[in-house]
Amino acid sequence: MHKLTDLREILRYVPNYREKVFVVAVDGEVVEFEQFQNLLLDIALLRSLNIRVVLVHGAGHQIRRAAEEEGKPITNSDGTGVTDAYTLRLALNVSNRITHEILEGLAACDLRGACTNAVVAHPAGILRGVDMQNTGKVDRIDSAYLRTLLDNGIVPIVQPLGFDGEGHTFRLNSDAVAMHVALSLRAIKLVFITSRDGIERGGRLLRQLSVNEAEEILKQGREQLATDNVSKLEHAFRACEGGIERVHIINGRTDEGLLSEVFSPTGIGTLVYVNEYQSVRQAKKRDARTIQKLIEPSVKNDELLKRSRATIEKHIGDYYLFEIDGNPVGCVALHPYPEERKAELACLSVSDSYENRGIGRKLMNFVEKVARERGFKELFLLSTQAFNYFQQKGGFQEATPGDLPPARRQQWEASKRNSRVLVKPLQNAGAAAPGA
Ligand SMILES: CC(C)(COP(=O)(O)OP(=O)(O)OC[C@H]1O[C@@H](n2cnc3c(N)ncnc32)[C@H](O)[C@@H]1OP(=O)(O)O)[C@@H](O)C(=O)NCCC(=O)NCCS
Repeated sequence: MHKLTDLREILRYVPNYREKVFVVAVDGEVVEFEQFQNLLLDIALLRSLNIRVVLVHGAGHQIRRAAEEEGKPITNSDGTGVTDAYTLRLALNVSNRITHEILEGLAACDLRGACTNAVVAHPAGILRGVDMQNTGKVDRIDSAYLRTLLDNGIVPIVQPLGFDGEGHTFRLNSDAVAMHVALSLRAIKLVFITSRDGIERGGRLLRQLSVNEAEEILKQGREQLATDNVSKLEHAFRACEGGIERVHIINGRTDEGLLSEVFSPTGIGTLVYVNEYQSVRQAKKRDARTIQKLIEPSVKNDELLKRSRATIEKHIGDYYLFEIDGNPVGCVALHPYPEERKAELACLSVSDSYENRGIGRKLMNFVEKVARERGFKELFLLSTQAFNYFQQKGGFQEATPGDLPPARRQQWEASKRNSRVLVKPLQNAGAAAPGA
């Protein structure tokens, strides 16, 4: 994005981010960058927009340096190799020093921070015959504790250290800690701030990777990535698999990098994302029965109009299904009115046991995307009981039956259901932002 981050651009995203959790994971090295204080100012801005931020930090860079200064260089400093007693002592010293610097920096931005012991860990044990000694593995995150801090406007700081409750501390890999924290808090975003521009393959920055593409690279092209990139991509992939929809990897040296990444559709680093539409597919003739079953309860409640199997089959190409593990759990239809360049969103239904998981919204956004791609200028719908839903969650506005295409208006009159008419103009409205 531009130098002076556009406030309007930011405000477009705010409703989606308010009260949500961002986990920001900074490599140890980044804390020493000149731009680090600006990064904390960016976090202060996120806080002022009521976005909840957890800061996870690494310490590998400082551990390596401290060991060199003591004349005992170590090879494993990222919390994945063996941590002997000496390395653990260094890890404790430098981690506490880094946390202190972050606390100082937060205070300078008038933010409250707290060093935490929310990571419960156990020993990594003996791996392929090697005793990992004080290297730990995340057991669980005390998310209730972190939420208490977040509820009180405090930025929790999570170190790359874990506690076993019996007086032992373990050295952990900070990428893994960040991933576990994000998953346990169901964060909306996980942002890795590193000393690279993002994930680079063969020297080229990869801007956007779907979770499938990330998996493919980890399987086939891992040797083309820098070592620290492998860990970032691996944890980004695992976070996405666990339900975090967007993981960002950016360079801590870029001014306003954090804001540019999260508040612009294109971003500056690498975005690893879950393709939210990968569960949606167009219906086939043999799905007509399934669609009828899906809408049956809503038809009984007079939420949806009854449709015969033959009618559904006739227009089967208009229908889309949302599947979980291959089972259809929701449906929607997009009926075109090409003469008026309008399209109707119809038959949106989500099976009872899958309600309130955002599936309705995904189906609604999906047909909007299809309608835009097909060049329709307006999406409309008729609803008897869910008009608030479409207004609040879909951005539709109330209209009159006179706004309907004539053929649809005649049906509206004939049905006597008195449904409300809602519309959403699609031109000049700005497409859904992929980077959001
Ligand atoms: C309406 C419907 C499609 C929503 O599906 P869903 O997957 O549960 O919805 P989402 O998860 O995207 O959204 C849930 C949110 O919408 C709200 N919501 C659900 N139904 C609503 C309604 N009728 N009016 C207002 N808000 C509603 C929920 O309270 C929840 O709010 P929150 O996110 O602030 O907690 C589903 O309830 C349904 O199948 N209803 C019966 C059929 C129907 O009425 N279809 C529309 C006619 S075309």
